[in-house]
Amino acid sequence: MKKTSLFTAALAAATIWSGTALAVDLSIVHGSVGKDQEVLRAELDRYEAATGNKVTIVSMPESSTDQFGQYKLWLAAQSSDIDVYRLDVIWAPQVAAHFVDLTPHVADIRDQYVSAAIESQTVDGKLVGLPMFLGAPALYYRTDLLEKYGEKVPATWQEMTATAKKIMDAERAAGNADMQGFVFQGAAYEGLTCNAQEWINSFGGGRIVDTDGSININNPKAAEALTLAASWIGGISPEGVLNYKEEDARGVFQSGNAVFMRNWNYAYALAAGDDSAVKDTFAVTTLPSGGEGLASAATLGGSHLGVAKYSKHPEEAIELVKFLNNYDNQKERAIVTSRPPTLNAVYGDAEVGEKQEFIPLWKPVVDNALARPSAATKRSYNEVSSEFWTAVHDTLSGNGTAEQNLAKLEARLKRLKGAGW
Ligand code: GLC
Repeated sequence: MKKTSLFTAALAAATIWSGTALAVDLSIVHGSVGKDQEVLRAELDRYEAATGNKVTIVSMPESSTDQFGQYKLWLAAQSSDIDVYRLDVIWAPQVAAHFVDLTPHVADIRDQYVSAAIESQTVDGKLVGLPMFLGAPALYYRTDLLEKYGEKVPATWQEMTATAKKIMDAERAAGNADMQGFVFQGAAYEGLTCNAQEWINSFGGGRIVDTDGSININNPKAAEALTLAASWIGGISPEGVLNYKEEDARGVFQSGNAVFMRNWNYAYALAAGDDSAVKDTFAVTTLPSGGEGLASAATLGGSHLGVAKYSKHPEEAIELVKFLNNYDNQKERAIVTSRPPTLNAVYGDAEVGEKQEFIPLWKPVVDNALARPSAATKRSYNEVSSEFWTAVHDTLSGNGTAEQNLAKLEARLKRLKGAGW
């Protein structure tokens, strides 16, 4: 009897020992919108089943700006609480020092990735994050309403403004008091930087900071773009748009209360979902331009996975990052979340094209998307962006004219730049 129980105890101890030696607990942090979290959990469940490791998801608020604030605290404290960070495309130059160089770990698969995505995550030769998904926004519009009022899909912001007003006014007169003309991301955060860069660039007003680091944002084209945008507030866009982020805009459009919406790719799968009021009555087109002969601009977005230098399990964390970005997981994400993948081959996958038409349709827009000046402004990007969205938000709020706010912005950016970025 005694012998048996000793044997059992020894066996139990051995089992526990081998379990703890092999399996580890990891954590991944991300800012989820739409179906991101649901899809990530399903992927992690498969990873856990295959490896015995456990992965906890730490969720962040929707705003990229708020995420960055929290990430900076963890990284500055060299916290080992988070192993894998989902990083916004713009952050690599600012956080590079805190992350493991993935270069040697992905040497055999690197060429399979969209090269611009890999470049965006490479800082002084170090690969800070393995690209997870890309982003290039669209103009979402109501096909039924355009048809009802005999309007064509707008090619310029001026046409969009006129069509939105005409349809919104007519719908309200017909009793639909909640109808809005255009919803977008107008809160004072990174999302507004993305929207306003598109307006300005598509008017021929250039970039927030040029790729060579020079500052030319205080120009008449930029002012023209911001002046038109300011005219939307309280007109085709509700006053509340000054506090809208991605999900606020989607909520209004998806419940059937907006003619047009500017949003990222993730909104497509959701607006086409069974519980969407506009399921069969919306389509997407490229964002408008600032006038005939001018080109539309779509800001490059996306999120990528980095392994913190402070992780206690870097090897497992690197394997997890590679697993999450493998072909099967990228394919599933492209179909379910309509997020543009980072593996070139997934764009050509027949099943992806069949189940999620937005992905092949949007490939050229993704390829031509306009980066924000995070490489040019290096460690100052967040301050640059914050100065920019403040100038834009002030203009939209009627707090100074576009010209006045752009002049102030130019002075502030010059001060930030000093002798060089
Ligand atoms: C999306 C984009 C990201 C951008 C953010 C702004 O999440 O992927 O790049 O910074 O929107 O709100």
